[in-house]
Amino acid sequence: MDVATVSSEPRASARAFAPGKLILSGEHAVVYGHPAIALAVDRGTTVHLRACAGDTRLEHSSIQDLRLFQALAAVLPPRGLAVRIESDLPVGRGMGSSAALAVALVRARARLQGREADFAECHREGFAVERVFHGTPSGLDHAVSARGGGVVYRRGTEGPRIEGLSLPPLRLVVLDSGSAGNTAELVAGVRARRPGIDPVLARMGALTRELAAELAAGSVDVGGLLDENHTLLQQIGVSTPRLDALVDLARAAGARGAKLSGAGGGGVVLALVKEAEPVLAAAAAAGVSAFPVSVHPGSAPPMSSEAP
Ligand code: PMV
Repeated sequence: MDVATVSSEPRASARAFAPGKLILSGEHAVVYGHPAIALAVDRGTTVHLRACAGDTRLEHSSIQDLRLFQALAAVLPPRGLAVRIESDLPVGRGMGSSAALAVALVRARARLQGREADFAECHREGFAVERVFHGTPSGLDHAVSARGGGVVYRRGTEGPRIEGLSLPPLRLVVLDSGSAGNTAELVAGVRARRPGIDPVLARMGALTRELAAELAAGSVDVGGLLDENHTLLQQIGVSTPRLDALVDLARAAGARGAKLSGAGGGGVVLALVKEAEPVLAAAAAAGVSAFPVSVHPGSAPPMSSEAP
């Protein structure tokens, strides 16, 4: 096991936070080897663990999901722990609530043992939790949750390639469609439309590379790339009339650009804005739940570009 920091003794209780995420570009295309850009956000999940007698049990959770028990069993011992989970991430909206839970669980477990989990451990062990919720996840969500900041993620035959992306200050607003998309079904739907949509997926990959270069050069004037990305997501069949309406609403209120973020079918729209207020006001007037998000810097630990 990789041990970043070894402290003294096991503890009677421990707490750890991990951030959620937004995909800025490249969802779905990432499944087929194209790059994606994701950001850790300043909302997330905190796990509290307390040593106790008897079977490991869930004392409290603000996330309601029957798969939670399986998720806990994937990383915690069967006996001796009481678990509390608090999250301010909307669940099932593509904001990485299960990935944040996965990473927070791994971190809290390590702290209980008197040490800190490093990136490699969070990524490797977090995968077991992500599989409970998502079947065959690309690994993007919990990689960005474990690392923080911006990440360019790419799947490869030798395992995923994960690179930190230094970001200019981005003003972002999230608009919630109010419904959850089913990631596994949406991924299966996209797969069924191949190879006809392969050129669209390839354009998504090229667009993501352009976006990464612009951001790395410090440009925030990338709204046009987000808009095109949304059009491509429409073309592969994962947007909905509701998501399209939220994108239009954000643009009409002055957003630089907007797109669905995550698997689609529901979930959220991400708007890149000059000022958050007009978009938040337009959303409120339309009865849409919306909130500003900032990038969570995370610890951005030193890591190789190759994940374990
Ligand atoms: O629903 P989300 O935000 O976890 O989005 C999944 C992103 C996909 O590219 C569609 C699937 C994946 O595993 O990367």
